[in-house]
Amino acid sequence: MRKQYRAEGLDEGELAGHPMAQFERWFRQASAEGAVFEPNAMVVSTADAEGRPSSRTVLMKAYDERGFVFYTNYESRKGRDLAENPYVSLLFPWHPIARQVIVIGTAHRTGRDETAAYFRTRPHGSQLGAWASVQSAVIRSRAELDAGYEELSTRYPEGEQVPVPPNWGGFRVVPQSVEFWQGRPNRLHDRLRYVAEPDGSWRVERLSP
Ligand SMILES: Cc1cc2nc3c(=O)[nH]c(=O)nc-3n(C[C@H](O)[C@H](O)[C@H](O)COP(=O)(O)O)c2cc1C
Repeated sequence: MRKQYRAEGLDEGELAGHPMAQFERWFRQASAEGAVFEPNAMVVSTADAEGRPSSRTVLMKAYDERGFVFYTNYESRKGRDLAENPYVSLLFPWHPIARQVIVIGTAHRTGRDETAAYFRTRPHGSQLGAWASVQSAVIRSRAELDAGYEELSTRYPEGEQVPVPPNWGGFRVVPQSVEFWQGRPNRLHDRLRYVAEPDGSWRVERLSP
């Protein structure tokens, strides 16, 4: 599969008009027949107000013409970074098919309705986990974490509706540029980048590998 994509390459003429439509094509291919394990896993890089960067993997839970959505704790390191500095980069590392997609944009909190609708689709245990974890905080022990979870599962047994934690929710990353990278032989990779124009259209430029 990797070989096939390497041979075919990526040509300006075949690109979709909108980067999210192009993303959809590549995401489908990455998802097809287990081509990539967890193709929705993406590396999110943020920076704080002083420009100090940090990265971590999260799962993309939705995408459409507006951008990419992931869910997290708003008080986590990434959540605090994004509150100070909304600029963000996403990277989908699709190594088995010799592809990567790199997004640069700004992150915006999803509305509470959208967050609640997604929260309700999560398994009961994950809902409790969202409450039990003060994500990114230093804790004394594993036992402390497990005890918090146990307490919550007594308060909210299986089948009981768990409220959405106030500090938990989604971010929608609105892209300003989206690069599609296709590995090719001899390191002569294809790199085509969509860049948002002020009028809402997209310019495509080719980058040297
Ligand atoms: C495959 C994978 C998927 C993950 N998905 C999420 C996710 O969707 N949301 C999330 O908050 N953390 C997710 N994590 C955990 C994050 O990588 C990270 O540890 C956590 O969000 C705290 O990051 P921070 O302290 O930099 O804010 C995932 C980790 C892995 C390895």
